[in-house]
Amino acid sequence: MNSPLSCKTLRLFSKSIACKCLVLVAIALFYRALMLSYSPRNALNSSSLILARYMTDSSSTGGIRTDKFLEVPQIVWGLNNQKIAFARACLTARMMNRTLLMPSLSASLFYKEVDKLRPIPFDKVFQFERFNSMCSGFVRLARFSDVRNRTQVFDLEKGSGRRWTVERDLKQLKQSAGNGSIDEFEVIRIIGKNPFLWHDHWPVKDYAKVFECMVVVDEIAREADIVVMKIREALELRTGIQSPILFVAVHMRIEIDWMIHCKKLEQRKKVSEICSSKREIMERVGNISGLKTPTVLYLAVADSLLEEKEEDSSVLTGWRDGLIPFEKKKLGVKEEIYGKYSYLIQSAIDYEVCLRADVFVGNSYSTFSSLIVLERTQKARRLGFMSSCEDGENEWRSYAYNLAGESKGVPRRWMTNMTHTNLQAISYGSNSVSCSSG
Ligand SMILES: *[C@@H]1O[C@H](CO)[C@@H](O)[C@H](O)[C@H]1NC(C)=O
Ligand SMILES: *[C@@H]1O[C@H](CO)[C@@H](O)[C@H](O)[C@H]1NC(C)=O
Ligand SMILES: *[C@@H]1O[C@H](CO)[C@@H](O)[C@H](O)[C@H]1NC(C)=O
Ligand SMILES: *[C@@H]1O[C@H](CO)[C@@H](O)[C@H](O)[C@H]1NC(C)=O
Ligand SMILES: *[C@@H]1O[C@H](CO)[C@@H](O)[C@H](O)[C@H]1NC(C)=O
Repeated sequence: MNSPLSCKTLRLFSKSIACKCLVLVAIALFYRALMLSYSPRNALNSSSLILARYMTDSSSTGGIRTDKFLEVPQIVWGLNNQKIAFARACLTARMMNRTLLMPSLSASLFYKEVDKLRPIPFDKVFQFERFNSMCSGFVRLARFSDVRNRTQVFDLEKGSGRRWTVERDLKQLKQSAGNGSIDEFEVIRIIGKNPFLWHDHWPVKDYAKVFECMVVVDEIAREADIVVMKIREALELRTGIQSPILFVAVHMRIEIDWMIHCKKLEQRKKVSEICSSKREIMERVGNISGLKTPTVLYLAVADSLLEEKEEDSSVLTGWRDGLIPFEKKKLGVKEEIYGKYSYLIQSAIDYEVCLRADVFVGNSYSTFSSLIVLERTQKARRLGFMSSCEDGENEWRSYAYNLAGESKGVPRRWMTNMTHTNLQAISYGSNSVSCSSG
């Protein structure tokens, strides 16, 4: 009478229903093991083969062939650039009805010294199977081991320079796709620039669809959960509030190299709304309407780019009463969580945390902020919020702190206009942000 005994012990600290569940699970496992041992190995294999063949039938892949591949160069630079580059590679493969060979991402930010690029497989950051099931019929990923004949590779070189226009690039892609002697090759390998620098031929909706399929691996999601939990606990510890607690994530771009870059950008574009000082950010975030205080602010500071200087702590002072700021160090997650990972994974965790915030405030000129708002817009749309132009508290609210809202002292409501015909219009270098998803 083994199990009743352990049940009795268990009952000491758990409900008996849990115990019954355990017994049921044990019975289920036992029967499963019995069934597995009954079915001959071969029968099992052939049935899963048939299943696999059925699953990869081209009718279920939306015309994407599973025996023709596209290979792209290693994907580099920051997380956002890598996400955009990856989406661009997917959409290029889609255009050719080909499966994309899972590319390498880069774990570090060094891009001038090739030996420091530290390739990291896509499936160490994003879930491979999940990607294919979510994007099924739209784009498809495969592993290099799926290529049957590695000698059948056609090298397609993209042009470069001023004269290599968007139109020429598109023409080359279409010609290669429609050229029978090229299409015969099992693999088309694109040679040249990394995909982030390729021309942009796709509408925002297509990018959004790819981004949606990029679900981080469990390990990263768990770390983000811990950070979010600590943010919520931080307020509880300070205020004793236990109800579901709102938190606001602010993606602060105030590092010195960003400030230099954005000042130059303002001069070149003859606009003055790109760089926001710490003071301006604090004022505008403080004026967001409908924030129930006290509220925790999670300050996502690009601190891997900061040297260890006084900046870290100075972002913590000057906020209006009721806004309680935390960055990684004060939250106690800098070494314990972020410190364990490469630059890319650190950004991925920060990205997830900002995605989960009740309110997000970013800079409309930052690609990191723009992609977060794009994903939040998708989530809001799914809940039926197509616009945030009217005041009020819809879910997945976002704001641009570098742009003035109804008055100078408040940030502008921000949603991604999903009807744009290319990504350029909504990322890196735009101050025409929308409060509606189009
Ligand atoms: C891709 O497939 C679609 C339909 O499935 C077809 O119309 C198109 O011509 C194909 N394109 C290429 C480049 O094979
Ligand atoms: C691979 O392709 C090459 C060139 O088309 C061919 O000579 C070779 O026999 C193929 N190998 C296999 C295993 O199919
Ligand atoms: C197809 O591509 C091959 C290899 O690049 C090229 O030699 C040939 O001229 C192309 N054919 C057409 C019809 O464009
Ligand atoms: C925004 O907040 C500042 C103080 O931080 C205040 O002086 C200003 O009037 C506010 N502006 C608006 C439009 O609420
Ligand atoms: C969204 O973008 C489209 C195309 O660029 C434009 O026509 C439309 O006015 C925009 N909508 C909003 C609400 O900004």
